[in-house]
Order: sequence, then C-alpha cells, then structure tokens
Amino acid sequence: MAHHTEQILSLLYKKKEAYTSGQEIADGLGVTRAAIWKVIEALRADGYEVESAAAKGYRLVSIPDLLGEREIRLGLDTKTMGKVIHSLAEVDSTNSYASRLASDGAPEGTVVVSDRQTAGRGRLGRKWASPPGVNIYMSVILRPEIPPSEAPMLTLAASVAVAQALRGLYGLQAEIKWPNDVLMDGRKAVGILTEMSAEPDRVRHIVLGVGIDVNMTRESFPKELKNIATSVMAELGKKVDRAELVRRFLLELEKTYAMLTGGKKEAVLNAWRGLSCTLGRKVRVVTPRGEATGLARDIDESGALIVELGGGRVEKVTSGDVGFV
Ligand code: BTN
Repeated sequence: MAHHTEQILSLLYKKKEAYTSGQEIADGLGVTRAAIWKVIEALRADGYEVESAAAKGYRLVSIPDLLGEREIRLGLDTKTMGKVIHSLAEVDSTNSYASRLASDGAPEGTVVVSDRQTAGRGRLGRKWASPPGVNIYMSVILRPEIPPSEAPMLTLAASVAVAQALRGLYGLQAEIKWPNDVLMDGRKAVGILTEMSAEPDRVRHIVLGVGIDVNMTRESFPKELKNIATSVMAELGKKVDRAELVRRFLLELEKTYAMLTGGKKEAVLNAWRGLSCTLGRKVRVVTPRGEATGLARDIDESGALIVELGGGRVEKVTSGDVGFV
C-alpha cells in the first residue's frame, strides 16, 4: 500500500498540470481502481490537493509544504545525494545526528533533514536559530578520498550549490560571502557548517550542514538579525516549497561534488569566484596579528581568501569572518 502511494504520487507528479486516468494508473501498477481511490484519500488527508474528474481521472494540484521523505523524493533526480533520507520532526542538530550515522557507517549521500532543531549550531561556536515549519535544516554525509587539508573546498562547493539552486529555481541574485555565507540583497539567508572526522592524512567522513531561511517572514527575525538576515520568501515575495529547494540543492551539490572528486577543482573555484560578492571589495579581517583592512583579491586553491593589505603585504585568511568596509 505505502509502496503504491509513492508510485501513484510519482505518476501524478510527472503529469504536472494534466490529468492521469484511473485506468492508466490501474494498468500501470496492477492495482484496482478502488485501491487507487483509497490512496488518493490518504494523500488528501496528508494535505495533498488532488482533483478528480469523472471522465479524466486525477490531477495533483498542490503538495503540502512538508519536509518528509516522500515530499523530498518526489522528482528527485540524483544518483547518490539523498538515496537515503532521514526526515525528522525534531532533532538536537542534524549535523550531530548525521555524524552519529556516519560513524555507524551510513553511505555517502545520506541526508538528514529536520523540521526543527533544538540545538542548531553555527560556525565559530555560534547558535543557529531553528524554528519549526518554515526553514530547511539539513546535513549530507560525504566520504571523499581527499586529505583533510582539502576539506574547505567542500564547503565552497556547497555554497556554490545553494547559490545556484536559489538562482535556478527562483531567479534570485544569490551571492557568496567568503567563506560560505549565501546572501541576497546583502543579507544572509544561508549558513553552512562543515564538520569532519579524519585521520592525519585521510578524511573518514564529512558532514555538510546547511541551514536555509526559507519561509520566514521579515517580522519573525529577532531584532538583532533584522538588518543582516533574510529569507527566500522575504526576497521573493511568496512562500516556496521547501522540499523542492532541498531537491534542487542536492542536484547542484551532486554536480559540484562530482567536479571536485573528478579532478575539476578549478571549475568549482571559478564558479565560486563568479558568485562571490567578496572579491574586489575592501574587507576587514582578523589576522594572527590583529585586525586589518585590505582588498579581497582572490581565493587560492585551498579556499583561503587572499587579501592585499597595502605596501605589498598580502594576508591569506583561512578561517574566521570578513566584514565589508
Ligand atoms: C553559520 O554559522 O553560518 C552556519 C550555520 C549552519 C546551520 C546548519 S542547520 C543544519 C545543520 N545543523 C546544525 O546544527 N547546523 C547546520
């Protein structure tokens, strides 16, 4: 039964706006029309809007904005990313959950997604606000054969994937602020937290954590974030389907990850450069010798930001934050 639900849903989904006749579904799946009717009723109870018309059949009108495995899998066009999906209503942090799974041997491409986090983590020991029902909190397990020193490249690749997903799906001018914040209109909507388990010369696994503020209203951001944070909905002026964004991100991630592991690192760096709003700007950086301002020139092949401090001095920034001046 559950199995047929996925198949029927996928048939209806593929037809987009058009009707699928009950007979076509019945013949295709070898089930009775009564069984189909039951599945349709169950889908409706879950919030799917399905139209039925006597002579034409069924038509999928809308999908509920849920981050269930079923919603994400619908039309998912990837080979490895998301082949295994753990969808949770609540978790401490999807990164912590994913890293437990990874230690237990979960395969590459395993995705953990949650509607809410009770202890969402950000970079540099910060917290990541994770209210329910509106955003995306997800982690992807990767097992690249690279030395630990190359791990920062994965974070760059992930930021490229998110920015491309936002541009491709909604036409938003998403840009990347070094190292991996994705901004729209100068405000942050996406954060990435990469965590790694490694031996001195070999990565065991990497957990790529991505938080996207999707359907949050401007008003619901805490006061101190109002001017520096935004959401997809705030930028686009309408609510979006979170599952669709997860899918597109996984597809883009699969592409950039394949470039990295397939020896096309330069292509990923170039994509990052093309999406960056940091390069060419005057920035303030924290260096081992204190704060300094300079011109953000480029990133090197390890993902470090190259800043020209003046007087011929150049600083390579490998961690921390940069601010615009
Ligand atoms: C940042 O500080 O910009 C990074 C934020 C990363 C947040 C995501 S949400 C999913 C995953 N789980 C976490 O606890 N953090 C990351």
